[in-house]
Amino acid sequence: MSTSVTMDKIVSLTKRRGFIYPTSEIYGGLANAYDYGPLGIELLRNIRNLWWKRFIQDRRDMMGIDSQIILHPRTWEASGHVGSFSDAVVEDVKSHKRYRADHLIESWIVGKKEFESMVVENMDVEAMGDFITEHKIKSPEGNNVTAPKKFNLLMETHLGTLEGQKDMVYLRGETAQGIFSNFKNILDTTRIKIPFGVGQIGKSFRNEITLGQYIFRTFEFEQAEIEYFFHPKQQKWEDLMKSWKDAMWSFVTKDLGVSEENVRWRKHTDTERSHYSKDTYDLDYKFPFGWKELWGIAYRTDYDLKQHMEFSGQDLRYTDPHTQEKYIPHVIEPAIGLNRALFMVLSDSYVEEDNRVVLKLAPQLAPYSAAIFPLVANKTEIIAKAEAVFDLLKERFPVYWDDRGNIGKRYRYQDEIGTPYCITVDYDSLTDHTVTIRNRDTMEQERVQIDSLQTYLQDHLFSQRLMSS
Ligand code: GAP
Repeated sequence: MSTSVTMDKIVSLTKRRGFIYPTSEIYGGLANAYDYGPLGIELLRNIRNLWWKRFIQDRRDMMGIDSQIILHPRTWEASGHVGSFSDAVVEDVKSHKRYRADHLIESWIVGKKEFESMVVENMDVEAMGDFITEHKIKSPEGNNVTAPKKFNLLMETHLGTLEGQKDMVYLRGETAQGIFSNFKNILDTTRIKIPFGVGQIGKSFRNEITLGQYIFRTFEFEQAEIEYFFHPKQQKWEDLMKSWKDAMWSFVTKDLGVSEENVRWRKHTDTERSHYSKDTYDLDYKFPFGWKELWGIAYRTDYDLKQHMEFSGQDLRYTDPHTQEKYIPHVIEPAIGLNRALFMVLSDSYVEEDNRVVLKLAPQLAPYSAAIFPLVANKTEIIAKAEAVFDLLKERFPVYWDDRGNIGKRYRYQDEIGTPYCITVDYDSLTDHTVTIRNRDTMEQERVQIDSLQTYLQDHLFSQRLMSS
């Protein structure tokens, strides 16, 4: 991450260049909600596809599914979310705005030496209430707050068309449950053997209390989750956890190209851990507003399958094809939010240098691999030649066309959106069939034959990819 990156700079760049827009902006916006613009959607898709390739397609022990956002409501009773998926919340007695108690305490202790070693994650609801009362902690508006109360994060909605016949259901709070509820289907319809994992990418929804953390925390977000099933007597969960942690670290630092010094592991405390987990780690990233969770990994034991067996009455045990032993597998779960990954990638690649802003995105993530510039927009031959270059490259690379303004401005625009190469077609191109190709990071330029452009790009993008894989 460049030392100068701030939240304001990222928000401004992503809005200015069409990565991210506030949702329903023409109506004044909607809290904790953002839309992805023409560039944001490409970057998000590249991150999503890379995750899918690494964790599903490249592995023999993994497969993917896509379950519904609205599952049978009993799912969430079985999973424990109806009972336990909650945050401790306080209310400002005057404005009636609600705040997460842990976040209020965390902000209050900042800069107070005597509380430096305090771990807010260790506090339960009562302890937080006592602490708030003892230290007379106020809301951000300076008013007293109520005692903390548990607030469930599951979002409710209703199904049904006839008046009075609407059934309450939940928008899923995690994609994981669609994997557990399909476990039997997967066993019955594939030839996979334990140990194996199932991955899913999709939207999840949570009634978050904390507002204003940009795309870090939103009501609606995209998760990429894996449930990795294994026999607890044949494999040590600690070993599996370690190998998944290594894979996660490698994905972030190599595939996504994020600097190692901006990533760290943090073990969850006993109080902080989710109801289903025996051990949890967060892979934290140093976001512009501090170290925060990017990716979690939890040892969910056999908790979920057991619960679903009990609530559905179905036998969800696995039968070992060699020994015929029947057992409930245990699970390791790496779960990442792709919007947070995108935020991280933007923060980490944002650089200000030589009077320019550059997104030094890993080439495989950049929305465009190259931009094609006809030097002038009013010379038919140059336009035709540039179109031929565009057509040649578009078969293999995502390319951008720009014939507006001077070349310097076009470079600045491409730097800000992270395009690794700019290719200019000029008068010489008409006779010697070469173009100028300019490198985003070094700003160096060289002349290259149009015929060898595909190979040039393939080699250069690919060698950078190799370095990062
Ligand atoms: N199935 C386990 C699970 O859902 P989690 O730690 O609650 O675990 C996994 O969520 C990941 O989803 C987080 O590490 C984070 O990247 C992302 N995430 C969670 N809540 C989010 C929110 N409100 N907005 C954006 N991303 C979120």
